[in-house]
Amino acid sequence: MKKVKIGLIGFGTIGSGVVRVLRAKRAYLRDKTGVDLIISRICDKDLKTKRQVKVSRNILTKSISKVLYDPEIDIVVELMGGIRPARDIILEALRSGKHVVTANKALLAESGGKIFDLANSLGLCVGFEASVGGGVPIIRALKEGFVANKIDLIYGIINGTSNFILSKMADDACDFKSALKIAQDRGYAEKDPYLDISGGDSGHKLSVLALLGFGVPVPPKDIYTEGITDIELSDIQYARELGYEIKLLAIAKRAGQSVELRVHPTLISRNHLLANVKGVYNAVFIKGDLIGENLFFGEGAGAAATSSAVVSDIVAISKCLHSGAKNEKCICFKKDVGDVKKMDDIRTRFYIRFSAIDKPGVLARISGILGKHDISIASVSQKERKTAKVVPIVMMTHEARERDMARALKEIDALTSIKKKTVKVRVEG
Ligand code: HSE
Repeated sequence: MKKVKIGLIGFGTIGSGVVRVLRAKRAYLRDKTGVDLIISRICDKDLKTKRQVKVSRNILTKSISKVLYDPEIDIVVELMGGIRPARDIILEALRSGKHVVTANKALLAESGGKIFDLANSLGLCVGFEASVGGGVPIIRALKEGFVANKIDLIYGIINGTSNFILSKMADDACDFKSALKIAQDRGYAEKDPYLDISGGDSGHKLSVLALLGFGVPVPPKDIYTEGITDIELSDIQYARELGYEIKLLAIAKRAGQSVELRVHPTLISRNHLLANVKGVYNAVFIKGDLIGENLFFGEGAGAAATSSAVVSDIVAISKCLHSGAKNEKCICFKKDVGDVKKMDDIRTRFYIRFSAIDKPGVLARISGILGKHDISIASVSQKERKTAKVVPIVMMTHEARERDMARALKEIDALTSIKKKTVKVRVEG
């Protein structure tokens, strides 16, 4: 029986999940793949905390070197997270001749190029299925299943926390703060939820997807990123009245010779396949020249779903190890677009909500300014005045340029009849 030895670095929730799966399914995986997967060593700086899985003391260590330089170990699985020291550990594992599996999207987004170049030059593999979409096999689909396609569009709901909050607001009519609190109470949102609700986590994942889909290495800092914190319940409700849902979308879209990369709350038609992706679920919608439209849906986080992805990488590398084939180039990205389009030049339709004093001439002034900036109104509705003198005016526009919209809203928000910063949400689909 062929044996593959694994060294795990990071024995937290996901690490313990992977160990549990490899243990519980050892025979099952052996029968299915013809390879016996053995955990040789587990490294973590904290060996005291009780884990969900029992392992022999002999394989536990605090020393990373005992994993990196153990000649018996074939695959190093990095599940510690963070950029440093994970980056140096992965690079050193490759230099020591180990294949690597990682779930670390932040690191791949920042340093994927360097890691993949080194792996390619050494004929080693880096598996990263767990970096985007948890148990959803989107990485392998883009790398292998769709390899013959020219990818035109990727829409991702790839942050479960934000999707849970927006779904909760929409379905239970609660505000952002209450929805966030429920997410935290249920363990879906971190105590410090910034990375998720700011769109940062989606930005990291979009950077990985853009590399696979379009061959463009773009660090997250160069991806336009807007989170969900400014979305109010009323926007979700007005959007629904207009036939839309609001979702935090990560978007990679071919636009002529260039590619648009952006993360922001987005109105999508209730008829779009993504409109019903609710709660903590993730989904990735892809259009390619051969496949047409494809949708991937599933659990984007959690120990079980993420372990499924990590183990799939371990199995893929193990099969490769025993096939006798040399991995000349494990990860090959073909750049097939020019530059990333400047956000200012992007054109979309917009949902806009003004908070305006209800008096004659206000709407005329607003539409005058929009017209001056080449923005054409598709529909407008002024919500009924109850007691307040300030009323919401909701507009949908035809396609307009980002730069023009920014200039128009700056001018409109400076009017004395506008009482709050205008809310704008882009429309897709
Ligand atoms: N925090 C992420 C989410 C899961 O909410 O989807 C890990 O990528």
